[in-house]
Amino acid sequence: MQGSKKRIGVLTGGGDCPGLNASIRAIAKTAILNYDMEVIGIKDGFLGLIENRFVHISYEDVSGILILGGTFLGASNKANPFRHPDFKARFKDVSDIAIENYHAMALDGLVCIGGDGTLNIAYKLYKKGVKLIGVPKTIDNDLKQTEATIGFDSALITATQAIDKLHTTAQSHHRVMVIEVMGRYAGWLALYSGLAGGGDIILLPEIPYDIKKVCDVVSKRNQRGKRFSIVVVSEGARPKAGKMVVRKIVKDSTDPVRLGGIGNKLANDIEKITGLETRVTVLGHLQRGGEPSAFDRILATRFGTASCELVAKRDFGKVVILKSGQIKAIDLKKAVGDIKRVNLNDPVIKTARAVGTSFGI
Ligand code: F6P
Repeated sequence: MQGSKKRIGVLTGGGDCPGLNASIRAIAKTAILNYDMEVIGIKDGFLGLIENRFVHISYEDVSGILILGGTFLGASNKANPFRHPDFKARFKDVSDIAIENYHAMALDGLVCIGGDGTLNIAYKLYKKGVKLIGVPKTIDNDLKQTEATIGFDSALITATQAIDKLHTTAQSHHRVMVIEVMGRYAGWLALYSGLAGGGDIILLPEIPYDIKKVCDVVSKRNQRGKRFSIVVVSEGARPKAGKMVVRKIVKDSTDPVRLGGIGNKLANDIEKITGLETRVTVLGHLQRGGEPSAFDRILATRFGTASCELVAKRDFGKVVILKSGQIKAIDLKKAVGDIKRVNLNDPVIKTARAVGTSFGI
């Protein structure tokens, strides 16, 4: 039974990433230490809200989890109260059930930590009366309004380390190494890891590539005595007049398309056209695992604390963002709808071009 204390709820929706536990910890510690609130953790993202599955979170529960990857609450990148499959796999709107459960949990406010899918669902629930706050996380860094999302920096470090390792073996064997990184429809992870890892060619979803240009760069490097090349390709990249390569369709997911496979296509094409030995590495879910970087721990803690303060102030329908180093809160409405993609005039693109990086055009 609920006492007189206020109650804050938290859930982690969408795909996991490093820094989620750090943000849950920040919300719980801020709530307990500063506002004497009770903390409720909803299991497996919105699925827990639909199925009424939750746990009470104590101070001890969140002690020591700052550095742990994943989310101890569980996550789901399929659960959606507005599109929930029944036992015959027919989709139904069960948002009223989720909202009933929210009220039954006697929450004074709910923090939804997630990417664009989660924040879109959160906004729809908010419009139906759920008092909530959004916290942006995703290794894709594709949420508009915020300069950084929880998880991106950690994934960037993983991808950069992988490129560094491929560099040494590429050099020894005089090979072309293609590395496929995640990021969905946005090329942030490829652009930043490609620049950090000194990739010779970076291919992004935002800049369809010309395979002849890619092969030209590789061949010319070879002729100059640089007998290896590193090609960093975003999973959403595609050749001019070609399509994105879809790995899988997950029917019951908010975004059913799972990208993947462009790395293999590209490696085959490069080998066939240039005659140079080419290998491919698909980094995959390694990018979502492991401990959060120092940057992500701090961002997650700042976002978590700020979101709890908004709940305490009863200032709902907001999402916390990072802008010029400051944590701000803006209307959820402004943060959802479309995603943030790499602009062709992005200064980082210009910098990469200045040091000779090719974007395959
Ligand atoms: O949005 C995060 C992300 O890791 C994307 O970069 C990737 O396309 C997708 O999720 C993979 O989803 P899943 O875990 O369902 O394979």
